[in-house]
Amino acid sequence: DYYAILMAGGVGSRFWPVSTQDFPKQFHDMLGTGDTLIQKTFSRLSKIIPKENIYILTNERYNDLVSEQLPEVSERQVVLEPAMRNTAPCILYASLKIQKENPDALMIVAPTDHWIEDENAFTENVKQAFKFCSKNDALMTLGIKPTFPNTGYGYIEYDKLEKTPIKPVTQFREKPDYKTAKAFIEKGNFLWNAGIFVWSVASVIDAFKNNQSALFALFQKGINSYNTEDEALFIEENYSKAENISVDYAIMESSKNVFVLPATFDWNDLGTWGSLYDKLDKDNDNNAVVNAKTLTENASGNMIRTEGKKLVVIDGLNDYIVVDKEEVLLIFPKSKEQEIKTTLENVKNKF
Ligand code: GDD
Ligand code: MG
Repeated sequence: DYYAILMAGGVGSRFWPVSTQDFPKQFHDMLGTGDTLIQKTFSRLSKIIPKENIYILTNERYNDLVSEQLPEVSERQVVLEPAMRNTAPCILYASLKIQKENPDALMIVAPTDHWIEDENAFTENVKQAFKFCSKNDALMTLGIKPTFPNTGYGYIEYDKLEKTPIKPVTQFREKPDYKTAKAFIEKGNFLWNAGIFVWSVASVIDAFKNNQSALFALFQKGINSYNTEDEALFIEENYSKAENISVDYAIMESSKNVFVLPATFDWNDLGTWGSLYDKLDKDNDNNAVVNAKTLTENASGNMIRTEGKKLVVIDGLNDYIVVDKEEVLLIFPKSKEQEIKTTLENVKNKF
């Protein structure tokens, strides 16, 4: 049977001021389509996975947001984390719960903040991955053709000579430095990790057992409490003892049975205002506008967003992020978008 776990516990601080710790980007309609990113992800996956088998993993502080935005999801499907420990602990925790429910489960793990253009291609790729994982002890990732040496992604080296669509991975390297990323891209046989994984529940639990023995031992102790009333208590007492580590570092870099399926869909991880700008339709002056009316003169390449369709008048400003949100108005050059994270820290210290 097919299961999905959706990771929805990140903060998305480079999308400040829209994304905040209390209300992160996955719960916003970043694309201006009427749906939030988590709603879009849920509907994309419910075409492949029975709805009742889709689990949402998130911090307990976002419980209300999840139940408001996904009313069709039952309490059983929402896995709440009492502490922020990155993606490895929550994936292991959810996998142990699912294994107890169904030891033969095949799972897809997906972030909730991505843009995927061609949903039919996505469905085809995922089905192909499930098929492979039903027959092999494999940790599968979906790979994206890289376009520049982005240091925020994982890189996957595959065997060039392999002719089948699913390729054995010779190296998985999370967030290399710029020089390394550049060398990888020049070599040609590297893909970006889309952060979408497919595996059987047995394979992923084995990977944790073999590569993260402390984390495995910690959560294994609670196995009898999973899916019972004692679970919340066990997790409340133990979750914060888990190491803060992402699944990429925890199991993908060190496992020998990693495989990659080069994705046939367009993908964007919506990590920054600039990546959102790239994916949105532009007006005649090449501005991307969400939730606003605009009157622009000598202004192009801007990412403009307000709440409640405010009128924005701009003259003589190019390649800027202009985002209006209740108490905060951000006007920031697109070229410095990565620095929004540090700017936010400065703002927090000052106000
Ligand atoms: N439930 C839960 N708990 N979810 C979390 C947590 C957590 O503590 N931390 C992060 N997430 C969610 C985020 O909301 C996001 O949907 C997903 O997990 C991935 O986390 P990111 O923080 O966005 O990871 P990243 O962008 O640095 O790197 C990952 O994604 C890249 C592609 O976007 C890695 O998998 C890279 O290898 C990959 O290239
Ligand atoms: Mg990300």
